[in-house]
Amino acid sequence: MLKAVYPGSFDPITNGHLDIIERCVSFVDELVVAVLDNPSKKSLFTVEERIKHITEATAHIPGVSVKSFHGLLVDFCRLEKAKLVIRGLRAVTDFEYEFNMALANRKLDPKIETIFVSASANYMFVSSSGIKEIAMFGGCVEDMVPENVKHCLYEKFKNREEETNGFHN
Ligand code: PNS
Repeated sequence: MLKAVYPGSFDPITNGHLDIIERCVSFVDELVVAVLDNPSKKSLFTVEERIKHITEATAHIPGVSVKSFHGLLVDFCRLEKAKLVIRGLRAVTDFEYEFNMALANRKLDPKIETIFVSASANYMFVSSSGIKEIAMFGGCVEDMVPENVKHCLYEKFKNREEETNGFHN
C-alpha cells in the first residue's frame, strides 16, 4: 500500500496541479493533497476555500483525500504514515527551490522520500500566482484552472473591486 502526500499552497489549485494528481494515482494507492495552513503567508483564498476547491475538483479521482497541515511537512507525513512526498516540476527555474526543500526534508526525516513529477507540456506556464494576476485584470483563465475555481476567482476579484470602489466613494 503506497501512500503519498502532495503538499502545496494551492492558492488556488490549477489544472497543472490537477494533472499531477491524476497522473500520481496511477502509481500510488492513496494520495493526500495537503494544503499548507500558514496564517503568516498572505493568500487570496482561505484554507477552507482551497480545501473545498480541491475536494470538488478531485471528486472524480479515486484514492484522493484533501487535508490541511501546519508546521513541518515531515511531521504531517509521519502523522499520515506516508513515506512519499510528490512535487511537480515545471521548468529548470523550479529546480533549485524544490531541490533545497527535498534536501531539507530528507535531513529532517531520511525515511521520507521526495519524488518529482514533470509537468505536462500544456501546463508548463501555469502557476497559481500567474492565474491570480490574469484573473485580477479580467483575463481569461479558461483551461488553466478547474471550472469551480474559475468562478470563485472572478467572484473574489469582483467583490474586491466593489469593496475598493465603495472605499473610494
Ligand atoms: O505550493 P508551494 O507554496 O510551493 O508549497 C510549499 C510547501 C507548502 C510544500 C512548503 O512550504 C512546505 O512544505 N512548508 C511546510 C514547512 C516545512 O516543512 N518546511 C521545511 C522544508 S523547507
